[in-house]
Amino acid sequence: MLKTHTVNAVQAAIQNAAGQNKKIGFVPTMGALHQGHLSLIDIAKENADVVVVSVFVNPTQFNDPKDFEKYPRTIDDDFRKLEESGVDIVFNPETSEIYPEEDIRNFDFGLLDKMMEGKHRPGHFEGVAQVVSRLFDIVKPQVVVFGEKDYQQLAVIKKLVNDYNYPIEIIPGPTLREANGLAMSSRNERLTADERANAAVIRAVLLESQSIAGNYTPAQVEEWVIKKVNHNPHLTVEYFQISDNETLRPVTGWQENCDYVGCIAVFCGDVRLIDNIKYSL
Ligand code: PAF
Repeated sequence: MLKTHTVNAVQAAIQNAAGQNKKIGFVPTMGALHQGHLSLIDIAKENADVVVVSVFVNPTQFNDPKDFEKYPRTIDDDFRKLEESGVDIVFNPETSEIYPEEDIRNFDFGLLDKMMEGKHRPGHFEGVAQVVSRLFDIVKPQVVVFGEKDYQQLAVIKKLVNDYNYPIEIIPGPTLREANGLAMSSRNERLTADERANAAVIRAVLLESQSIAGNYTPAQVEEWVIKKVNHNPHLTVEYFQISDNETLRPVTGWQENCDYVGCIAVFCGDVRLIDNIKYSL
């Protein structure tokens, strides 16, 4: 596995490894890698000839500087896991390499980034779009894998690829879960054992909501989920919204043969967790 830190070095490594007619698969990450990331790498390996992974904690997507500071950084461990996973090239740049000057580009995602994560983390998706488009321009992949846990991010990236005509196939990777159902996330590292056990309630309530959804309106299901999760003294729901699973527009009623997704953000202590669940009625 080649470790690179500069744009020139990663591009030279890619050119060298890929040669002619080889498919480049890419998995962008912010490090603190867990099984969930490794499953995205496996998907990239199945769909490409050369796999590149970036490890970069992108400052422009954190609306809260404290959250950026506290974000776990475990680069030596990450390098070991990437090596064991059979990654070809890792790109671990300094901020100055990604942003040689301030990125002042604005991206318009319409309603998509004005609600849920976009509403509660102003500027977050602008930052994600800045770094992801920059990484796409550097790595020039044909295939990129993003986790479905960040469901809204996946929708924003699909729109970015579509609006800016990137010749890239986006492949969603299913959410991996701890034994108790908690969605795997780098942020789980910051939970105490007690909090981790209580955070399992999020998944349990979402699963239960799937089975009752048909008897209630989306608004009633939203209210039910929020109440039920908040009932746990360790958990505080920031939002739970049921939307069309493609456009992410909020819905007022269920229609036959349509698919929906419920996205949730919950504070467990001071750790903010997100998850989602599909509804097909
Ligand atoms: O999902 C993440 O880890 C980040 O938002 C990403 C896509 C690597 C951009 O920094």
